[in-house]
Amino acid sequence: MLVLGIETSCDETAASVVEDGRKILSNVILSQDIHAVYGGVVPELASREHIKTIIPVVEQALKEARCQVEDLNGIAVTYGPGLVGSLLIGLCFAKGMAYSYNKPLIGVNHLEGHLLSNYLEHPDFSPPYVCLIISGGHTLLVYVKEEGKYQLLGQTRDDASGEAFDKVGNLLGLGYPAGPKLDELAKQGNPEAIKFPRAYLEKDSYDFSFSGIKTSVALFWEKLSEDQKRGRVADIAASFQEAVVDVLVDKLLRAASERKVKKMALAGGVACNSRLRKRLKQNEDQLDIDLYYPSSALCTDNAAMIAAVGEFRLKRGQADDLSLNAVPYLKLESTIELT
Ligand code: KG4
Ligand code: ZN
Repeated sequence: MLVLGIETSCDETAASVVEDGRKILSNVILSQDIHAVYGGVVPELASREHIKTIIPVVEQALKEARCQVEDLNGIAVTYGPGLVGSLLIGLCFAKGMAYSYNKPLIGVNHLEGHLLSNYLEHPDFSPPYVCLIISGGHTLLVYVKEEGKYQLLGQTRDDASGEAFDKVGNLLGLGYPAGPKLDELAKQGNPEAIKFPRAYLEKDSYDFSFSGIKTSVALFWEKLSEDQKRGRVADIAASFQEAVVDVLVDKLLRAASERKVKKMALAGGVACNSRLRKRLKQNEDQLDIDLYYPSSALCTDNAAMIAAVGEFRLKRGQADDLSLNAVPYLKLESTIELT
């Protein structure tokens, strides 16, 4: 089965052809550089860029996969959550293709896409497992008992983890997006240098909160002289990162232990974080739990994960009609079956 995936929920225009839900035949991702000067994504500019690039990106994905639209079994597209103007470009384009070529249209929840991203590279990956979806817009902890049956254990009550990396990194002068640069800078710093707060919230809670630590770093930073800032920036980056990683590791391991699963997974842009991967790897051996995460190109937003969900739905005879609309605040719970 061949499925074309289209993803335009934020600032990446992406298209991919995936065979049988696991084999990536093409994975084209065009990241919009235009936002860097503004220190964050400007929604109106993002949708204008998507309009310019959607056709060449889809054409390139089909070309690299050596297939024609006629060969496709379905067209999967992200319909939420995301920026409404950006979502609409991908969705309207996919609807147009589905209508004119008479192909099934499958609307995909972006979060379920991240959840399935690990299937694309790990043939042995299957439920039951717990997964942290950690990106610029989301932080969720999900228990997957069996194929298609998900339980949302917890989520952020304020900022997403990637958003905290971006905002703190921006404060430290690292530009946008700051997550990968902060990760690099932290390697030169001492993670124990400053004790920033860890928000574990109520006992037994699987929810997250990152706005407090962001403010704590900002207050610490403001009190430093320019000389001190230069001297301590790597320690601050490392200490901030350690505080975020501590909480993520704690909740993921607790969820794995409570649900008695032997697999834990990471997905989303922050899954690229080297310290998080290292800390979980250390526990992997100790606790006899296997850790899975996608390669960098599949951690950040991509259309292969959207095509993978599309195949999953098509196999179950599920498709959408052309009345499907973009849902900017789409929840994981509203699209998929929760246990
Ligand atoms: O999944 P993604 O591409 O977009 C969303 O769906 O939001 O994630 C992008 C986020 C950004 O906040 C970026 O700073 C963060 O992932 N990120 C990282 C790293 N690489 C990307 N955060 C921490 N460490 C990294 N190595
Ligand atoms: Zn994402």
